[in-house]
Amino acid sequence: MKAGVRLVSALVLFLLMGAVSTQKTRPKKPIKRPATDGKIFDNQLAGLEQPEPQEPTDFPPVILGPSSAYSDCPRECFCSPSYPNSLNCENRNIRVIPVIPVRTHYLYLQNNYITEVTEEPFVNATEVRWINLANNRIHRINKQVFGKIPALLYLYAEGNYLKEVPSGLPASLEQLRLSKNRISKIPAGAFSKMRNLTLLDLYYNQLTDSDLGKNTFKDLNSLMQLNLARNILKKMPAGVPNGIIQLFLDRNSIDDIPKDYFKDFTHLAFVRLNRNQLSDKGLPKDVFNISTLLDLQLSHNQISSVPMFSSHLEQLHLNHNSIESINGTQICPSGLNDQISDEKLVPRLRYLRLDGNHLNPPIPLDIILCFRHLRSIVL
Ligand SMILES: *[C@@H]1O[C@H](CO)[C@@H](O)[C@H](O)[C@H]1NC(C)=O
Ligand SMILES: *[C@@H]1O[C@H](CO)[C@@H](O)[C@H](O)[C@H]1NC(C)=O
Ligand SMILES: *[C@@H]1O[C@H](CO)[C@@H](O)[C@H](O)[C@H]1NC(C)=O
Ligand SMILES: *[C@@H]1O[C@H](CO)[C@@H](O)[C@H](O)[C@H]1NC(C)=O
Repeated sequence: MKAGVRLVSALVLFLLMGAVSTQKTRPKKPIKRPATDGKIFDNQLAGLEQPEPQEPTDFPPVILGPSSAYSDCPRECFCSPSYPNSLNCENRNIRVIPVIPVRTHYLYLQNNYITEVTEEPFVNATEVRWINLANNRIHRINKQVFGKIPALLYLYAEGNYLKEVPSGLPASLEQLRLSKNRISKIPAGAFSKMRNLTLLDLYYNQLTDSDLGKNTFKDLNSLMQLNLARNILKKMPAGVPNGIIQLFLDRNSIDDIPKDYFKDFTHLAFVRLNRNQLSDKGLPKDVFNISTLLDLQLSHNQISSVPMFSSHLEQLHLNHNSIESINGTQICPSGLNDQISDEKLVPRLRYLRLDGNHLNPPIPLDIILCFRHLRSIVL
């Protein structure tokens, strides 16, 4: 009777396969900046060489905000009467940060043409909690600016021209987003004392192994999310705080994971290593047998055998590797045991992607017998 039920679920899985196989995650394209070239300023040059874009003709004019009841509201910003602690200066072609009023807690400056963050506009802005500077052209942040804002919790500066992690950021920070810059340097002590930082996003920069020392993340006791995807790492980063929940390392050149790398992590649930150079050789047998892990992504590598994982894992992405066969008896975390009646011991794997390998249907029966919670396999 039981066997009959399983065969039916096998059939359902089979039918699901087709439906899911069209699903594809597409890497996000970086947001296009407004075009800055293409204008010919000198007719004589037409047809010859295109001149460099000339600033400031490069920038469209600043868009002024509506008149405001607040006398301290900068002309290029919007000060909402219902939100006296917010200053909205986003999408206004601003090149220079206006003087920030004392009452500001939430400061929105994203999507402008700001090139530099200097001290002057912030002299009285000591109460600011959130600053959004995303998608500007910032290449320099004065060291003194943010250190004087002891209440600062979120600093978003993704999509700028920064070459290094800014120094002198306050220890109060909880979120720091620096993705899509040109960062190739983390000054010593850049994250020191940031014991409340939960999110650090360094996605799409130019960091190499030598930029990440053992002590780089030393003080980050509260860190939950670390994104180092799309950098130039060849090794797993050293000194990642061991309470971390989410570690993203996609699109680097990592070819090897040290045997005990994940051993001391206590809450690690989401690991992404898609698009690296991992092969069986660089993957110690038990390296992913981590009981807290829920989602493991290893697509677009050169792995040829399915790694061992714990019975708690729910999602496994192994698509686009070199897997030629899969043996459910061998990878079954609890051992292939027909008699498992304790629901708690049944492996929790629900989603398995194996497309882009050298595997053909049908799905081996032992996979279906072991992973009873599987809702979809993509072959
Ligand atoms: C800062 O506040 C002081 C005292 O309220 C004021 O005199 C000064 O003009 C302010 N500075 C700026 C740049 O707004
Ligand atoms: C970190 O957070 C705690 C709890 O919210 C707070 O008491 C403490 O002052 C914060 N630390 C810093 C450096 O802001
Ligand atoms: C995985 O780890 C668990 C507990 O830490 C252990 O009992 C089990 O044998 C390990 N599995 C493999 C395949 O090594
Ligand atoms: C799968 O592995 C088990 C145990 O190692 C072995 O007995 C079995 O023959 C294998 N199945 C296939 C189809 O190779």
